Amino acid sequence: MGLTYFKRYQMQLDLRKLERAFGELPPGYTVRPWDESCLQAHVEAKYRAFAEELDALVFPSLGSREGCLRLMREITARREFVPQATWLLEYRRSPDGRPIACGTIQGIRTDSLNGSVQNVGIAPEHRGQRLGTYLLGQSLAGFRLAGVCWVNLEVTARNQAAHRLYRRLGFRRTCVVYKTAQVAFA
Ligand SMILES: CC(C)(COP(=O)(O)OP(=O)(O)OC[C@H]1O[C@@H](n2cnc3c(N)ncnc32)[C@H](O)[C@@H]1OP(=O)(O)O)[C@@H](O)C(=O)NCCC(=O)NCCS
Repeated sequence: MGLTYFKRYQMQLDLRKLERAFGELPPGYTVRPWDESCLQAHVEAKYRAFAEELDALVFPSLGSREGCLRLMREITARREFVPQATWLLEYRRSPDGRPIACGTIQGIRTDSLNGSVQNVGIAPEHRGQRLGTYLLGQSLAGFRLAGVCWVNLEVTARNQAAHRLYRRLGFRRTCVVYKTAQVAFA
């Protein structure tokens, strides 16, 4: 094990300047607003989205279902939790089939005017269809309803897909920070 530094960008979007539509969901996909009954589905989506990714090295909780459950409980129990900015993405292969949890995003408020996106993730086999864009759009609309003006997030610099998605939606870099994590070397 060794201590590794991960370069991360803090990014911000001015919600008052947001005038974009975020497209349509492809057939079979639906989004669900937050309610307590979908906590386990968020855990499953978060685990499947992050387990094999760089961010599971940076934040080891993301690498296990237990860790994802702990994170979801912590986020949703906070006084600052913003349910309107928290969405689950599901996929249903046929109308009578069980929905599969394949995407998640959560929001918290950091002060009266600022919000923060937590852990947007899409399961690997569902990526590349602008589902991340749609889910983030849902969350931004929810932040706006909650009276938030600026939305902030942090992204690992090497995470090109996420960085590209955020830039396309209008997020701009405000700061560079370094996060340390213990990483096992092969
Ligand atoms: C980031 C993530 C949510 C994007 O989900 P998605 O549904 O594929 O998102 P979209 O299709 O809306 O947009 C993805 C963008 O990344 C680009 N992209 C995909 N893979 C890429 C790669 N390996 N390198 C660079 N860009 C890539 C796509 O081309 C697209 O950009 P474009 O539309 O401008 O061409 C998804 O990759 C994911 O869950 N990653 C793991 C979890 C994670 O890191 N979350 C972010 C935490 S900050």
